[in-house]
Amino acid sequence: MTATYPETFMNLSERDKKVIWHPYTSAYSPTPIPIVKAEGAYLYTEEGKKIIDFNSSWWVTAHGHSHPYIAQAISQQASTLEQVIFAGFTHEPAIRLAERILSYFPTLSKVFFSDNGSTAVEIALKMCFQAWYNQDKPRSKVIAFEGSYHGDTFGSMSVSERDIFTAAFHTLLFDVKYLPYPTKNNFKQVFEELEYLCKTDEYASCIIEPIVQGVAGMRITHPDFIAEIWKICKKYNVFTIADEVMTGFARTGTLFACQQIEIQPDIVCLSKCLTGGFLPLGLTLCADDIFEHFLTQDKTKTFFHGHSFTANPIACAAANANLDLFEQKETRDKLNTLYTNLAAIKEELNKCTFLYNVRHIGGILAFELGSSERHYLNAISTKIRSFYLERSLLVRPLGNTVYIIPPYCITEQDLLEFEQVTQCLHFLPA
Ligand SMILES: Cc1ncc(COP(=O)(O)O)c(C=O)c1O
Repeated sequence: MTATYPETFMNLSERDKKVIWHPYTSAYSPTPIPIVKAEGAYLYTEEGKKIIDFNSSWWVTAHGHSHPYIAQAISQQASTLEQVIFAGFTHEPAIRLAERILSYFPTLSKVFFSDNGSTAVEIALKMCFQAWYNQDKPRSKVIAFEGSYHGDTFGSMSVSERDIFTAAFHTLLFDVKYLPYPTKNNFKQVFEELEYLCKTDEYASCIIEPIVQGVAGMRITHPDFIAEIWKICKKYNVFTIADEVMTGFARTGTLFACQQIEIQPDIVCLSKCLTGGFLPLGLTLCADDIFEHFLTQDKTKTFFHGHSFTANPIACAAANANLDLFEQKETRDKLNTLYTNLAAIKEELNKCTFLYNVRHIGGILAFELGSSERHYLNAISTKIRSFYLERSLLVRPLGNTVYIIPPYCITEQDLLEFEQVTQCLHFLPA
């Protein structure tokens, strides 16, 4: 019998266009590029073109694409225990992962599993709201920061900046008070306002991206400002949530941003690089001062939250393998080299008069092209993206903010390529 499926005669882009709705992609965006293979810092297209992934594929790839050590751990786990319900059952990969992650956060004591950054945040917020509810002192407001991005589910949208991402849902989001992200120009005012809010006893929690606000355009602040925020919150019993979904796993120069901060939060959210970029997994770590409010015989006070794939064993095995790699000296050396190379590129790019506010922290480098206000829909964003892509570099600007957050296996040659292409950005048509 002859196959009559028209799909056989269409290329991947045409088939994709017929059936797939892509994230953060408007109907008239450029056609998505089919990728058939990824290895190290490179993506390979259908036609065999090699693209350097300076975006770590939405900030998730750590040691490199298709890293054989993580691939092997996944394969082994998949043929041993692929999935088990996590209510009433447990397994070694999850226990080992929780023990290992907590060893980096000595003030935290419990780990709750989920599947992505938004759910890790959602769970953090729910834990705080319910910790107050369980004490019969319900609180329903949250303190967050201007420019924040915490995810796309309703709770995480509620605490993110109210902007074009959330405009269609504003009437449906819960009550949040936003303070400016602290800088050396505004920190006194931020601390004063925060103290005023905390004193009202109305706020359940305060959520912040520690040290770097990612989606806001890689805005960097001083760790001491975060420490002061957490000090004030703790003084007035407002739970503190550190959203380390982007900053975690060596992006800011230490394995976790919290390691640079003198005071520790009550909750930490992790995802993205957690499995080295292989599989979706989220963690919400909490301190005893949260968990103690769930230590009750009263079953109505249970934390009624869970997902079908909570603590999936294969994802946990990937995360354990990812941690094995982070704990190797070779990785620490690679990270130090990357940090040094990015610092040197910053110096070079600082000489380009058409680039503004060139900044660098750990494995992140960013600058603005043009001095205009950051706006996600700034048309220049698409032009910049195409400029790099035509030269086989994946760089995905946030409006006119250009940044790179490369996988840790990136070579000096690849970084040099970025520097050289960037130095030509002034040729970009206006
Ligand atoms: C700080 C932060 N929190 C949460 C999220 C949401 O993570 P996910 O996309 O995995 O839902 C992101 C995603 O970019 C993020 O940057």
